Amino acid sequence: MLETAFQDYTFQSPLMNASGVHCMTTEELNELANSKAGTFVTKSVTKQKRQGNPEPRYYETDFGSINSMGLPNLGFDYYLDYLKKHQKIASTPVFFSVASMNMQDNIETLKRLEDSEFRGFTELNLSCPNVPGKPQVAYDFETTEKILTEVFSFFTKPLGVKLPPYFDLVHFDQMATILNKFPLAFVNSINSVGNGLIVDTEKEQVVIKPKEGFGGIGGQYIKPTALANVRAFYLRLNPSIQIIGTGGITSGQDAFEHLLCGASMLQIGTQLYKEGTSVFSRVLSELEAIMDAKGYSRIEQFRGNLKTF
Ligand code: DHB
Repeated sequence: MLETAFQDYTFQSPLMNASGVHCMTTEELNELANSKAGTFVTKSVTKQKRQGNPEPRYYETDFGSINSMGLPNLGFDYYLDYLKKHQKIASTPVFFSVASMNMQDNIETLKRLEDSEFRGFTELNLSCPNVPGKPQVAYDFETTEKILTEVFSFFTKPLGVKLPPYFDLVHFDQMATILNKFPLAFVNSINSVGNGLIVDTEKEQVVIKPKEGFGGIGGQYIKPTALANVRAFYLRLNPSIQIIGTGGITSGQDAFEHLLCGASMLQIGTQLYKEGTSVFSRVLSELEAIMDAKGYSRIEQFRGNLKTF
């Protein structure tokens, strides 16, 4: 019922983790592999191992989360080794998230991935908001186009981009025009809403240490923005570029809404952090119940079919 066609593959379900959550170590990745998620993505990987920002760097409330992790990860070789082993035993591909510390690192990492045996999807992260002094790349449209031009001059494996949220219809038009020039496999909308601030009223203090408390907001706070970005890109991108919907998915209803807006795959971040990998089976059974009640037996019967007045 929940099978999902994604490029040349079929996943058992549309759910997966959002990069950054539950995907740093071999143990966590194995738990994802053994969960009801249809596939999974690694933590965003930099050339070298990184410690990330000082703690506390993650905090959650009833409505979502704030984080400023600062790209802690175990380095390119660790994840490539893991994925090479995993693909020998797995029947469906997984996603390798590559982060953007600077243009040159990105290109070098992607060249190594191109030359490797890795056969899955690459998610190029153009939207990390948490490295002090480094702006979110995809808010600079000219740089985004330059990076993609360079990447597609040598990269031949399926690749998509993880975008930050946009808030202006003209920005959707401009970014979609750029993205449509490239043979992207997918666009993932959205990364966290960058540089929000959560205040602890009792302590009269910020809740995370890096960047004076500023950090990426996730969870229920961001669902309307996520849905808008999924919908806006679904309506503007070449149909060959599939959408991954990320942002505010805590229930089957949230998943249904993302699919109705046009998402193919769905990523869960904050709620996975809160609930662990059992979130996938719960959200899938809630989604199935909604589909049953509406008389749908396949996602294709409603994907993208959001009505307007
Ligand atoms: C981090 C956060 C992000 O939102 C992202 O896209 C990549 C990395 C982080 O702080 O580690």
